[in-house]
Amino acid sequence: MPLSPLPFDQLVRPDGVHRDLYLRPDVFRAEMARLWSRTWIFAGHESQIPAPGDYVTVDLATQPCVLVRQEDGSVRVLRNRCAHKGARVVSAPSGNTGGFFRCPYHAWSYRTDGSLLAIPRRSGYEGTRLHDCPAGAGLVPAAAVESYRGFVFARLTGEGPALRDHLGPMTEVIDNLLDRSPTGEIEVAGGCLRTVVRANWKIYLENINDTMHAVTAHESASSAAEAVWAREPAGTPKPLAMQQLLPFGSGYDFFQKMGGRTLPNGHTLLGTAFSLHSAYAGMPDYVNALVARHGEARTGAVLAFSPQNAVAYPSLSLKTAPQAMRVIRPIAADRTLVEAWSFRAKGAPDELLARGALYNRLVFSPLSVVAHDDLHVFETIHQGLTTQANPWVSLHRECSAEEDEPVSRDVAGTSEALMRHQYRTWSAAMTVGD
Ligand code: FES
Ligand SMILES: [Fe+2]
Repeated sequence: MPLSPLPFDQLVRPDGVHRDLYLRPDVFRAEMARLWSRTWIFAGHESQIPAPGDYVTVDLATQPCVLVRQEDGSVRVLRNRCAHKGARVVSAPSGNTGGFFRCPYHAWSYRTDGSLLAIPRRSGYEGTRLHDCPAGAGLVPAAAVESYRGFVFARLTGEGPALRDHLGPMTEVIDNLLDRSPTGEIEVAGGCLRTVVRANWKIYLENINDTMHAVTAHESASSAAEAVWAREPAGTPKPLAMQQLLPFGSGYDFFQKMGGRTLPNGHTLLGTAFSLHSAYAGMPDYVNALVARHGEARTGAVLAFSPQNAVAYPSLSLKTAPQAMRVIRPIAADRTLVEAWSFRAKGAPDELLARGALYNRLVFSPLSVVAHDDLHVFETIHQGLTTQANPWVSLHRECSAEEDEPVSRDVAGTSEALMRHQYRTWSAAMTVGD
């Protein structure tokens, strides 16, 4: 590292980013404080905590937190840090705490809203200033928690727009996920695939909007699928795995035409016209159930909208056709936890959930035939950027030297405009002081 590192406002250019933005621990710490803690980040799905007292533990912006259902049905996000001496109050990944949390160290206990309920031998605090200081207030809540149709987001610190205003057109993607349910309800199902990637979180997030890599990085997966499928007699119905893997071999032209869109606040939509998921075989029982809810025309429109990836910057990526979500949870400058979840559309045939869960296993699991291609590249990027070479990463594809890029616009599916858009949002957040 240079003795005088570049200030944050010099790490992003209109057509590229400096390697320090991925590598420097001080940049990572600032990202957590200035970007991740101050914006709406995905905390969890309400279906994970259906009953009062249900909780899940989760690290948000590297801060241990607990997401917990209240008696009145609302959801709170609390720092999972005991008000007494800082012990982790809840260690299990999920469960039901009943009416209160109890710290395992000295048994301070807290109501599910975080307020202090009891302290053993409380008389020892009589005449002290405990209740005038933060320790007396209990577990520290997130500055704001809101749910959009079951998707719970938290803003850890500061003030900002309402969640709905922050999400803007991204709400239509969540609406589509629910519209794809014959009952209008979805729930997480089928478990979660967790992968710790040895690379910076932004390398992962860039890749979600990178169609140019599929032709090369996933060539072994798509060509293996093509070779297996070529042995089948013509007219054989494609099994789910073939429906999901064969499209990875689509060429540059396909990816270019799928289209992309930049949206306010760093959000992006890839696959505005069609996607790798568009040609999945119909499921007649499922389609009939949707028609009963929406009618023919609207069902057609609901199923036609199947983006490749919709990113609620910076923490969440959704797919609506295989009903799947990826959640990005940064750990350190060179470590990122990625969670892959599936949704069950309530009232839909089990085959629909099987399609989403299979997609996660085939494409997002490191034991699959696709994800290991990406993981290998992510890790070599993180290592490669440390070499004494050009310190700038190129984002020039379809970047005009003359024009400023508008916040919201449609671009080719192969454009790097979606990545540049993320970095403009990053830069704006990072150059506002602590
Ligand atoms: S650290 Fe939690 S009760 Fe002491
Ligand atoms: Fe990939």
